[in-house]
Amino acid sequence: MKLLIPSASGLEAVVKRQLDRLGYPDTKANNGRIVVNDCTWQDVATLNLWLRSGERVLISVASFACESFDQLYEGIRGIFWKSYLVRDSRVTVITKTVKSKLFAHNAIQSIGKKAIVDAMTQAFGVTPTETGAETVVEIALYEDVATINLDTTGVGLHKRGYRTLSYSAPLKETTASAMLDLSVWHGDKVFSDVFCGSGTLPIEAALKALNVAPGLNRDFAYQKWAVVPEGTHEETVALARDMKKDRPLQIFASDVSEKAISIAKYHAQKAGVAKYINFAVADAKDFYNGASYGVNISNPPYGERLGDEQQVVEIAKFMGKAYKRLDNWNFYFLTPFQGFERCFGKKADKKRKIYNAGIECSFYSFNGAKPPKDN
Ligand SMILES: C[S@@+](CC[C@H](N)C(=O)[O-])C[C@H]1O[C@@H](n2cnc3c(N)ncnc32)[C@H](O)[C@@H]1O
Repeated sequence: MKLLIPSASGLEAVVKRQLDRLGYPDTKANNGRIVVNDCTWQDVATLNLWLRSGERVLISVASFACESFDQLYEGIRGIFWKSYLVRDSRVTVITKTVKSKLFAHNAIQSIGKKAIVDAMTQAFGVTPTETGAETVVEIALYEDVATINLDTTGVGLHKRGYRTLSYSAPLKETTASAMLDLSVWHGDKVFSDVFCGSGTLPIEAALKALNVAPGLNRDFAYQKWAVVPEGTHEETVALARDMKKDRPLQIFASDVSEKAISIAKYHAQKAGVAKYINFAVADAKDFYNGASYGVNISNPPYGERLGDEQQVVEIAKFMGKAYKRLDNWNFYFLTPFQGFERCFGKKADKKRKIYNAGIECSFYSFNGAKPPKDN
């Protein structure tokens, strides 16, 4: 099977590296989706469970030139649906169309659905009852090529299952995890997030350092599919549970809001990592840590509300001062504030474009000195 991993704009390379580390070195990025060839149901389970920054796992079941509704119908009807559906499968069709002659979503959806129902009627010898598990079929048209994909994930992979309460503009878990991958932090040094809000970054940091599969506390759409060999999910989960590591971690999470910290603690408990994180109510202005080397990764408030601009400027200024006090530390910030470097007082060593909640942001890296190598 060919799998597609949709990835947020700017994070394709991160997702590719995650795939590489999971044992999938030969992938390629195409239109914001990473293509993974020659996969099995086992791989579907592994990738859903382990991918930290991909958005979902799709099975690409066909791809064909498509400039008319006839071509769409024939292309979809010709797919060997018995490999993916059973007689009572409930099919939901969703559509995407970019730079294509077919652009009317409703028509694409209803013709697509009709083609699947006709193919199922012929394959199973009865009209589908649609009383069983749901399979979401995506018809994606891009430059007059139709790609037909099945969504094996269900609710997006950013939903790990631990973040149930909300507090002020939380980061997507997949983005937080990508920010960690783009930093020099690997569980070895001190980690801090002085604007932790609901706890996403410190929790993702702990999950990564402890080698906890991010999908362990949730379900996926494919689990209900009768065509998936029995035990596939359970075996993958059992394997993942065995791969958890226990190790000491120095993770510090703080926020000026008491409410944020109580929510973050609750989420950390749900994620099973509360004992690895030191939480504190504190103003980031006073940030100091006695460790010689460390990494702070944060997404500070970015002026969501009118009149917040001054706060954004102040934060960049006082974090610049904190960076000077902790000169062996690496600091990272995700913010749409374009004057950040100027107010921080230093040009970033690296600046990457990442979208957060649909807003174009920069991920600024300010390097510190490297720790001396042990002799
Ligand atoms: C954009 S939110 C961070 C969201 C967080 N990454 C998450 O995923 O939930 C910014 C946070 O900064 C906090 N904050 C604002 N001013 C602060 C300050 N001076 N010191 C510490 N935290 C502050 C807010 O309470 C808010 O929780």
